[in-house]
Amino acid sequence: MQIHPCGPLRGSITVPGDKSISHRAVMLGALASGTTHITGFLMGEDCLSTIDCFRKMGVDIEVTDGEVVVEGVGLHGLCAPEEALYTGNSGTTTRLLCGILAGQPFTVTVNGDASIQKRPMGRIIKPLREMGASIEGKNDNFCPLTLYPSELHGIEYRLPVASAQLKSAILLAGLYAEGQTTVVEPTPSRDHTERMFRALGVEVETEGNVITLDPPEDLHAVDIAVPGDISSAAFFLVAGSIVPGSELTIRNVGVNPTRTGILDVLRDMGADITETNFRDEAEPVCDLTVRYSKLRGVEIGGAIIPRLIDELPVLAVAAAYAEGETVIRDAQELKVKESNRIAAMVTELARAGVDVEETEDGMVIRGGRQPRGISFQTYKDHRIAMSLAVLGLAAHGDSRIADHEVVAISYPDFFRTLESLGG
Ligand code: S3P
Repeated sequence: MQIHPCGPLRGSITVPGDKSISHRAVMLGALASGTTHITGFLMGEDCLSTIDCFRKMGVDIEVTDGEVVVEGVGLHGLCAPEEALYTGNSGTTTRLLCGILAGQPFTVTVNGDASIQKRPMGRIIKPLREMGASIEGKNDNFCPLTLYPSELHGIEYRLPVASAQLKSAILLAGLYAEGQTTVVEPTPSRDHTERMFRALGVEVETEGNVITLDPPEDLHAVDIAVPGDISSAAFFLVAGSIVPGSELTIRNVGVNPTRTGILDVLRDMGADITETNFRDEAEPVCDLTVRYSKLRGVEIGGAIIPRLIDELPVLAVAAAYAEGETVIRDAQELKVKESNRIAAMVTELARAGVDVEETEDGMVIRGGRQPRGISFQTYKDHRIAMSLAVLGLAAHGDSRIADHEVVAISYPDFFRTLESLGG
């Protein structure tokens, strides 16, 4: 894929459905009693992996143009799959699924692609075992994971990392546990699981950083409208901020406060972003308009990190165009995503002539000098590919994105949408 430096980006777009909410809609829809109609579902490869896993456990899921229809089998209705469940590139599928599988009366193996096999699973193995689960993984930390039937009981667990995937795996296992399950987060992470549980009639209480779940009799199916993914909107928020003369609107974006760190940081950098048409539904939603403006360097660290963890690669691109120094710290978790996102961004930014330095838990970027367009590596990571494409829009000279089709993990139409804006 060739990226040419472009003139102003203008127009109005929507982005695909939120990935985190799409996964959860299928999972909880499958466990509910009744039929769930999901609109706005993200037809990306990760969410299709989730659908595939539940179909293999006997759940009838119909995918049509406008919606996904899940025929819930009830909390205790999943069947033993005939083969191992394959989760592809999806960490959310792998970790949340294991929470559910820990409570099933059958043996099942979960595995994913080469990237998934390198991602740490010890973080879910440990609490699930404490709950009574019988779970084995390669070197006690990696896929393939095998879960055997066992009786679960509630625990109180202090998360060692602010991870919504880990929190959700424990809460999902809590559906099958005897007694209450309590999770204590170091700092709040995305709360889509808790919100959806409440919508389906599960008692979940959040008090500060403490979340407590009472195991329900059953889950009542409700229809779910998935808002646009702010993590996908992020690429256009940065693109609009760095390409002179741009003005673009992204409609129907989910702005759950546990996800809006990107808006706080970009505004801190001097970005011009306005929110209109705000609706507070099960998840808050609005339209975002961004206009080009000069950016300046900022410090990004502490409690905001979980609120923008997936947007850090594209924020590093914004920092490359910003005047002055940007410091990203407390972001060690980036090393265990689909790729090592610190190493990937530092390497590619440096190759493009950006003054960037890797640190133990992030990076330092001294921006303001126009990067060069080059042939970029993506490390087979969808968010790295899209971030570098955005970098190329305002670079000096053309860029190339190797294996650009990796964007299909979360945003199959990314390049077409970019073109529709003049990119
Ligand atoms: C997700 C949580 C985050 C995020 C991932 C999706 C989720 O991961 O990076 O893309 O849907 O719960 P961690 O919880 O591991 O930080």
